[in-house]
Amino acid sequence: MSRKPRIAVFASGSGSNFEAIAQAAADGELEAEVVLLVTDKPLAKVMERAERFRIPSVAFNPKAYKDKADYERTVLGRLQEEGVDWIALAGYMRLIGPTLLDAYPNRIINIHPSLLPAFPGKDAIGQAMDAGVEMTGVTVHYVDEGMDTGPAILQREVPVVAGDREKTEAAIHAVEHDLYKEALRKLLAESAVTE
Ligand code: GRF
Repeated sequence: MSRKPRIAVFASGSGSNFEAIAQAAADGELEAEVVLLVTDKPLAKVMERAERFRIPSVAFNPKAYKDKADYERTVLGRLQEEGVDWIALAGYMRLIGPTLLDAYPNRIINIHPSLLPAFPGKDAIGQAMDAGVEMTGVTVHYVDEGMDTGPAILQREVPVVAGDREKTEAAIHAVEHDLYKEALRKLLAESAVTE
């Protein structure tokens, strides 16, 4: 039997999406193995979550490298050591450059808390609330060199709770945790057919 697809999650913050993916893989809900957490923020809460799941983690300081390509070559070396097949960005606050994109064509995905192309970039929930829209949502998309510009894989609507950022955010996060698993299941099933 062939081995399970190996996923690296990249995250810079709390890591609730990392946890949702790790939990799904641990429960067999996702036929994949989360083999590595990559962070650019050694103190991020996501590191504690990785420890709880006994998933190896690695923190890189991008400022310690000559440029993005140099930084990404080091990250790539570690991904190759771990035999990583897919990269899932989950609150990773950096743009991905050609070094990683060329090494993982159509294998790097991201989750964003809006119905892209609406409200790309930082604080998408705040942007949606400020714009006064009634409906926002979540997008899982392929990553390219732009900021939240790659083609969508799955999207789901989430209503804005007018004037209540906390409730809107909680509803979005709940949908994110579900949608990321669903998108990964879909991609892994499709790639199993084509390989
Ligand atoms: C999520 O809202 C995700 O859509 C965005 O960053 C946030 C990360 O949250 N890209 P968490 O760290 O997974 O809790």
